Amino acid sequence: MNDPEIIKTNGATFKRLISAQEIEEKIVQLAQQIRKDMGNTEVPVFLCILKGAFIFAADLVRNYEGLCELQFLRISSYSGADSTGKVTMYPGLDVEKLKDRRVVVVEDIVDTGLSMNCLLKDLRQYKPRTLDVAALFTKPSRLCHDVKVDYSCFEIPDAFIVGYGLDYDGLYRNFPAIYVKE
Ligand code: IMP
Repeated sequence: MNDPEIIKTNGATFKRLISAQEIEEKIVQLAQQIRKDMGNTEVPVFLCILKGAFIFAADLVRNYEGLCELQFLRISSYSGADSTGKVTMYPGLDVEKLKDRRVVVVEDIVDTGLSMNCLLKDLRQYKPRTLDVAALFTKPSRLCHDVKVDYSCFEIPDAFIVGYGLDYDGLYRNFPAIYVKE
C-alpha cells in the first residue's frame, strides 16, 4: 500500500491519520450495509457531491453489488473564507431522476453541517422517496446544524484533514490516504 506515514511537499509536512487500507475496509462495509438496506428491488441514486467526494463515491459504487445510478452535483457554501449561510446549487443535476427514488447523498465530510443541511432542504423539493446521507467523515464536536448522517465511515476529532479527495486550497486531493498538516 503506497500511503507513506509522512509526506513532505510544498514546504509542509503531513502525517498520516487514516491509512488507505482502513478507508478501503470501511467503504466495503458501508457499501454492503447500504446494499442490505436497499434490498433486492431498489436501484438507488448515489449523488456525489463535488469535488471532495469524487474518490469516495467511485470506491463506494464499485463496491456496491447491485444496480445503482450515479449523479454529480457541485455545491458551494463559501465565498472566499466566509460562509454565506446558504448553499448554491449548480446546474447539471437530472432532477427528474430523483423523483420517487431512493437517493443517497455521498459527501466527503460533514463538518458544521451547514452545507448538508441546506442541500437536503433543496433536494427534498424534487420529491425523492427517501433521502439518506453517506459521509466518509463526520466531526461530531463541530456539528451545529440539524443533520442526520445515516451512513458514516469515520468520526474524527476537530482537525483539518486532506487527501483521498479532500483538499486545502485546491491541493492534496491526490494523497492516497488521510493526512493532517504537522
Ligand atoms: P460544513 O458545511 O461546515 O459541514 O462543511 C462541509 C464542507 O467543508 C466539506 O464538504 C468540505 O468541502 C469542507 N471541509 C470541512 N472540513 C474539512 C476538512 O477537514 N478538510 C477538507 N475539507 C473540509
